Amino acid sequence: MQFDTHIGIELENPFILASGILDENGYTIKRILESGAGAAVTKSIGSEERRGFDPPVIYKENNSAINAIGLSNPGIENYGQEMKIAISSGKPVIGSIFGQTPEEFAMLAKKMQSYGASAVELNLSCPHVNGYGMEVGSDFELVAAIVSEVKSKVNIPIYSKLSPNTSDMIKQATAAEKSDAYVLINTIKAMKIDIHARKPVLSNIYGGLSGESIKPVGIRYVYEVKKITGKPIIGVGGITTFEDALEYMMAGASAVQIGTAISKNGIGIFNNMSRALKEYMESNSIDDIGEIIGVAIQSTTPSSRRGLVP
Ligand SMILES: Cc1cc2nc3c(=O)[nH]c(=O)nc-3n(C[C@H](O)[C@H](O)[C@H](O)COP(=O)(O)O)c2cc1C
Repeated sequence: MQFDTHIGIELENPFILASGILDENGYTIKRILESGAGAAVTKSIGSEERRGFDPPVIYKENNSAINAIGLSNPGIENYGQEMKIAISSGKPVIGSIFGQTPEEFAMLAKKMQSYGASAVELNLSCPHVNGYGMEVGSDFELVAAIVSEVKSKVNIPIYSKLSPNTSDMIKQATAAEKSDAYVLINTIKAMKIDIHARKPVLSNIYGGLSGESIKPVGIRYVYEVKKITGKPIIGVGGITTFEDALEYMMAGASAVQIGTAISKNGIGIFNNMSRALKEYMESNSIDDIGEIIGVAIQSTTPSSRRGLVP
């Protein structure tokens, strides 16, 4: 059985911890990796320490959540000690970073590489912090410059995490085409009003929607971006069951990340998905995960054009 996911790092299984969930601290990352995740993405880390927004910063309903944490993080200089603990698990740790300029992203990526990160994930998509994430990611020329600059400064794989909130994800993906893989999708800008208090629930008013309710949107983007670009994709958004993960793979994802579902299912979710994938591959006589990736695209592509989709 093979798990070659074409994202430039070797994975024991294709189930990865998503950025922002239990991953600001090296010990919790290590615990999740030891409990069966194939790799983990860190909380997005910036140049300076950030406190984030005042509470309430998260609202949960029906296996979905709206968060506006505000990119709180300890800052890159303080994060080396957490990375050291996390990578002592022996499994790949992917450093997520956010910044405003190509130079800032490159500096953060170099630091993450020096801390032992197996890859870097560029947060070009957080929907709720002025001047960062989606705002940077919506300027497609800037995206291209960031990816080029990071690429020229590190020799580990670069993943660009794209936003469903920009005007055109295909244009964003094209701007980030020098990346080794795309990560789709970040949360969708949303809000919740407390009808008794007659005001928004989150202190920041707007937040990012995640969990089960965004899965069909994620599937659509993975399918569309894979079909058009053919590049490796890491799928994320609402994955709660093994069947959800399989759907993402059939849409074109080489690996998947899991975030919000952990609060309902616990960290055992990685082991359970891994076991379910092995059972599925065995019972369907599939030796190589590549046989599943993007099959739904091939089924909708005229046979004369199938060669376009690897
Ligand atoms: C509480 C919370 C914090 C998050 N923080 C980050 C972050 O720092 N950087 C980032 O790229 N994505 C962040 N995300 C987005 C997730 O990585 C993921 O893209 C999104 O939640 C969809 O996946 P899910 O439905 O499995 O949670 C965060 C999500 C949540 C719920």
